[in-house]
Amino acid sequence: MRVLGIESSCDETAVAIISDSDGLLANKLYSQIELHSPYGGVVPELASRDHIRKLGPLVKEALHDANLELAKDIDAIAYTSGPGLMGALMVGAGFARSLAWSINKPAISIHHMEAHLLAPLIESISPEFPYVALLVSGGHTLLVKIDAIGSYRILGESIDDAVGEAFDKTAQLLGLPYPGGPQIQQLAKHGNAKRFNFPRPMTDRPGLDFSFSGLKTHVLNTLKELQGNQQHSIDEQTRADVACAFEDAVVDTLRIKSVRALEQSNAETLVVAGGVGANKKLRQQLKEKLAKKGMEVFYPAPEFCTDNAAMVAQLGLLHLQNIAQGENPQGLQIKVRPRWSLESI
Ligand code: KG4
Ligand code: ZN
Repeated sequence: MRVLGIESSCDETAVAIISDSDGLLANKLYSQIELHSPYGGVVPELASRDHIRKLGPLVKEALHDANLELAKDIDAIAYTSGPGLMGALMVGAGFARSLAWSINKPAISIHHMEAHLLAPLIESISPEFPYVALLVSGGHTLLVKIDAIGSYRILGESIDDAVGEAFDKTAQLLGLPYPGGPQIQQLAKHGNAKRFNFPRPMTDRPGLDFSFSGLKTHVLNTLKELQGNQQHSIDEQTRADVACAFEDAVVDTLRIKSVRALEQSNAETLVVAGGVGANKKLRQQLKEKLAKKGMEVFYPAPEFCTDNAAMVAQLGLLHLQNIAQGENPQGLQIKVRPRWSLESI
């Protein structure tokens, strides 16, 4: 069985093909980073229009890479139907369902976050259930306990900005381009960690939720204060010190909550996914602290960690095994869910 997966929930257009016997056969991705960069964040209407331009060519390239024909070799089309940007989801859903209809095969709607949570299973060495996933990206900050496929319990989430969003907004305050995470990481390398001490939000009380908007405001106020004192622009070393203090505060917060989540749910493995999972300080701290507690941290390969279609195709394959061949489980209706709780799947 082979499934073609389509991802278009935010600013990545992606197409992949996966087979139950041979694994991943194609994995194509087009990132819109350059398109949105001048605006400091994702512009939804531009994202939708670009998905329209890129989906067709990417499907052709994926089929070419895998040396397959759409109608003859593909058994189902899986696509992200939520959560995400309304217009971007509509493009992917409309495209996927039409494509499936044209070859008389099922179109399978996929929950983007569920696909992220199960992404580590694409790889040959994957974590065993149960595990806790820390999902940290531009749109999500979640701690989820996964007992088995289909069994998810949200342990904590951000009550305001997603952690990647906090990196991007803070980078903007520091005059750095989008996406801000890698820029802050780079600048923070030269920072003096002892000069500023920023708050670790919501770590001094029980619970596993996050809040990052106050931290961003703290950066803003610090910069304003520094500017006021100096009456001129902030020097490079000070910017690096602020970036370092911000990064340390975020990394500590994520680490404290992740350890708490593992301890509270009697799990020993943490899976980190999402773009912020690329952060070097975060990786190092989690590795060290979890090892001390006899726990381990698992990072999916970077291409499965950030938005991709391989995870969509993989989950599609799991669903397909439950659908009779040729049956269209949702009729011809094109429906997306920009807001969609994991626990309601
Ligand atoms: O999962 P992802 O690639 O895509 C979406 O959220 O759509 O995550 C992107 C986010 C951005 O906010 C970016 O600033 C952040 O991940 N990011 C990082 C790093 N690399 C990417 N944040 C901190 N440190 C990094 N090294
Ligand atoms: Zn995502």
